[in-house]
Amino acid sequence: MKTQYKCKPALAAFKLVIGLFSALLLSHQALALATLLGDAENGAKVLEDRCTACHVNMFGGDGSAIYTRDDHSVKTIEGLMQRVEVCNTNTQNGELNADQLDDITSYLNETHYKYEDE
Ligand code: HEC
Repeated sequence: MKTQYKCKPALAAFKLVIGLFSALLLSHQALALATLLGDAENGAKVLEDRCTACHVNMFGGDGSAIYTRDDHSVKTIEGLMQRVEVCNTNTQNGELNADQLDDITSYLNETHYKYEDE
């Protein structure tokens, strides 16, 4: 009983730290930063596997013209993150997880969009 009671302040402090950390992660900047820290190499694979075929159907070639066409719709890193999420619902299976979406976003940003995290 006594030990349990003594641990309470530590637990409260721990919860506070976790809470602050989540708040930080949820802030826009930090979220964009987290995205840019995704694993681009894995993103390339997932994109090829799950996304590219549809873009190829629309634009031919390797499908990347959708990212580089003159009037392409993505303008910011946040826009890219949103588009990747929307397009995830376009995939037949539509259940890529948040890490996979971060990885794809990193890959697309490194290879095509090149937005700075600012
Ligand atoms: C069923 C077809 C389909 C699938 C599957 C698909 N997309 Fe798309 N994608 C589209 C269409 C249509 C657009 C163009 C939307 C527009 O600009 O009007 C688009 C546009 C995009 C763009 C924006 C390009 C730009 O800058 O204008 C990105 C980025 C993108 N897709 C990523 C993905 C990713 C990542 C996946 C896989 C998770 C994916 N797409 C799967 C149809 C698809």
